[in-house]
Amino acid sequence: MSLELWTSVDRYVSDTLVPPDEILEHALAANAAADLPAIDVSPAQGRLLEIIAKIHGARRILEVGTLGGYSTIWLARALPAGGKVVTLELEPKYAEVAANNLAHAGLANKIDLRIGPAIDSLDRLIAEDTEPFDLTFIDADKQSNRDYFERACTLSRPGSVIIVDNVVRDGKLVDPAADDAGTMGSRALHELLTADPSVTATTIQTVGAKGYDGFTIAVINS
Ligand code: SAH
Ligand code: DHB
Ligand code: MG
Repeated sequence: MSLELWTSVDRYVSDTLVPPDEILEHALAANAAADLPAIDVSPAQGRLLEIIAKIHGARRILEVGTLGGYSTIWLARALPAGGKVVTLELEPKYAEVAANNLAHAGLANKIDLRIGPAIDSLDRLIAEDTEPFDLTFIDADKQSNRDYFERACTLSRPGSVIIVDNVVRDGKLVDPAADDAGTMGSRALHELLTADPSVTATTIQTVGAKGYDGFTIAVINS
């Protein structure tokens, strides 16, 4: 099994199940034109985020790591009328590209885009005593995943769902020789989850155009 085969199957899935979409393609083209790294979720993964948000009936969604807003568009489209995505991005230049993409998508009124280190933005949301989020998607700097997850829990309610991207990392998650910051962050997240009876979690391994990776999916217990 190879990246080539995973990519072919991913393309088959996108071609059959994710219709061509001018808005999403415009966002990826604008990201490329502005030299943003092409580390957005794949179309099939974006669809998964949309499906989870819809199954859950999420009205308030928190995203950590906006980049050019590709995943934000998928999440915002799943919202009911009056719903909101609060999305956090460190880089002002990326946030500007995202704001343009979200405006082009006709979603600007559903988005609260906050620029700066996500820890600070999360602490501000906590201090603001903001209404709990139904769904959180964590997809920023991986070494901070545990800190983001803890804050996402504070910003959640029983039944809220938290999804963390890129936790398997080509299997480095279980490679004793791997000690890069991202892998350590992913292990720290799993250790937190082991010890925390207030959440029910699992990790789903994925393959596709973006390689071998995975998502952690957690729900806050009642
Ligand atoms: N969710 C996006 C991809 C995000 S890539 C999508 O799928 O379309 C990760 C993003 O996290 C990058 O834009 C990066 O600038 C941002 N990031 C990195 N460190 C951060 C920090 N400390 N606070 C907030 N955002 C951060
Ligand atoms: C990277 C970040 C991501 O969110 C992703 O999905 C893939 C790669 C990265 O920082 O390399
Ligand atoms: Mg990611």
